Amino acid sequence: MPELITPNTALHQAWLDCRDDWGRDVIQHGSGLRQDEDVDTLAGFTVFVDRMKRMSDESIPVAEGLVHATYWWIADRGEIVGSISLRHRLNDFLLHAGGHIGYGVRPSARKRGLASWALGEVLGHARARGLDRALVTCDDTNIASARTIERNGGVLEDIRHTELGYTRRYWIDLTAA
Ligand SMILES: CC(C)(COP(=O)(O)OP(=O)(O)OC[C@H]1O[C@@H](n2cnc3c(N)ncnc32)[C@H](O)[C@@H]1OP(=O)(O)O)[C@@H](O)C(=O)NCCC(=O)NCCS
Repeated sequence: MPELITPNTALHQAWLDCRDDWGRDVIQHGSGLRQDEDVDTLAGFTVFVDRMKRMSDESIPVAEGLVHATYWWIADRGEIVGSISLRHRLNDFLLHAGGHIGYGVRPSARKRGLASWALGEVLGHARARGLDRALVTCDDTNIASARTIERNGGVLEDIRHTELGYTRRYWIDLTAA
């Protein structure tokens, strides 16, 4: 049974195994990882994990242009298989292009239903935070992500040209039981 795990330094090696599956310089959607960030050393990984924790703490201001967000690692069969994040509110960029939720699953664990499961779980967290609808977006060519959103009730509002390219923008109603 998959689970969502709060980022923690005890899982350094498992997280690195996941990172290596993606590849070192590959963007891991939903992970919060920066491109040239040192995560190979425990010290560097601790900085990364601490930043994830601070991002979720609304008593700590975030940098200009960012919003508070909660990050989880997706775990299954004893491995970290991906990441997913929930932005607590939308700013102009997120409303236009990025949406409330970002996610990614490591290549070796794809097509097992994990992204669909994790998105469903995080929609529950969004509802618990008081959101009555969530915006989830993906690139117009990203069939797997579009299917993941549609499986979770996403209703397409539009496909628009954004800073991220042609972007499919879906709303998911969180008021239904
Ligand atoms: C998009 C992504 C998260 C999907 O993860 P996943 O765990 O493989 O997704 P699921 O197994 O839950 O599959 C969801 C749906 O997509 C379909 N799907 C998965 N991979 C697919 C592919 N390569 N081509 C076509 N459809 C695909 C599945 O069949 C399923 O559709 P169904 O409900 O009609 O059967 C994963 O491919 C990924 O991490 N990609 C790179 C990062 C990314 O694009 N993140 C999203 C940014 S918006």
